[in-house]
Amino acid sequence: MKITVCFDRIDPVPWVRGLQAALPQAEVSAWVAGAPQADHAIVWAPPQAFIDEQPGLKTLFNIGAGVDALLQLRLPADLKVVRLDDAGMSVQMAEYVCHAVIRHFREFDGYDNDVKAGRWSYRKPPHRADFAVGVMGMGVLGERVARALRVFEFPVNGYSRSPKHIEGIRSFSGREQLGDFLQASRILVNLMPLTSETENILNKETLSQLQAGGYLINVARGRHLVEEDLMALLDSGHLAGAMLDVFRIEPLPASHPFWMHPKITVTPHTSARTLREDSIAQMAEKILALQRGAPIRGVVDHQRGY
Ligand SMILES: NC(=O)c1ccc[n+]([C@@H]2O[C@H](COP(=O)([O-])OP(=O)(O)OC[C@H]3O[C@@H](n4cnc5c(N)ncnc54)[C@H](OP(=O)(O)O)[C@@H]3O)[C@@H](O)[C@H]2O)c1
Repeated sequence: MKITVCFDRIDPVPWVRGLQAALPQAEVSAWVAGAPQADHAIVWAPPQAFIDEQPGLKTLFNIGAGVDALLQLRLPADLKVVRLDDAGMSVQMAEYVCHAVIRHFREFDGYDNDVKAGRWSYRKPPHRADFAVGVMGMGVLGERVARALRVFEFPVNGYSRSPKHIEGIRSFSGREQLGDFLQASRILVNLMPLTSETENILNKETLSQLQAGGYLINVARGRHLVEEDLMALLDSGHLAGAMLDVFRIEPLPASHPFWMHPKITVTPHTSARTLREDSIAQMAEKILALQRGAPIRGVVDHQRGY
């Protein structure tokens, strides 16, 4: 069995070594143009030339959860695309989102400013019941985030394509329930995949349906958000703030207004990082399962786009 590793701007060497150690029976190498045909590929943003040169591939393992960029390539219809299925990402996402929600709810930025100004000031505790959190996308990451928020007793709404039955979480599904979901939420967490259906879904029409004083946490993809619409709703006061981890252009250009906006907190696409060891262990296990003819989780539906 041959495994090839093809990454853009990531050193493949530690991955090749780790995969070789996990699968000693395989021949693992970093891809170079003209390399022999492989059975499985581990990829991050591979060029089209890689796909075209490797028509014998059975599986393409993406070292991330989102496959939007990968699906922009011309891929053979029968090529199995497999995304990372948690692999240590959901706990990181839960940390990030709980931090963002609590920081906003408890007004920690306000306290920071007070302390910097030498002011010892108390703020009236807000009512938790007034801070319902809507988690948009209730997949591997969204469900973990929603459950973590429940630990802090926030009211939690979940939005997905298909209805979910999770104790303590109010489920909304399908486009026809999107309005009800937004109107029931004050803080919105975006954890949807980027597809033709979800691109630009965070816009004036949707964000203005959040409850007054709304707050946006975008941890999915920059192209979900219409940036000017967010700015307009922050300026009008309908939205109180936003914490953004992902952007239409990354790295975020130095001149971008988000950097210095007083109501926006920026982080550099770091909410849930790929953990190499966890990812290698998961992919090795899946390759062995495929060899046995056993089913695996995380296979992407090319039509659905996630
Ligand atoms: N910022 C970061 O560091 C980072 C790290 C990892 C991932 N991400 C992003 O997070 C995204 C989610 O990851 P995941 O592993 O949780 O994905 P996932 O398991 O595929 O879950 C996707 C969820 O979105 C829902 N959904 C998809 N299309 C929808 C639509 N048109 N309307 C309503 N709901 C829709 C799905 O509904 P069903 O359950 O009904 O199918 C599912 O609940 C990734 O695609 C990636 O973009 C970001």
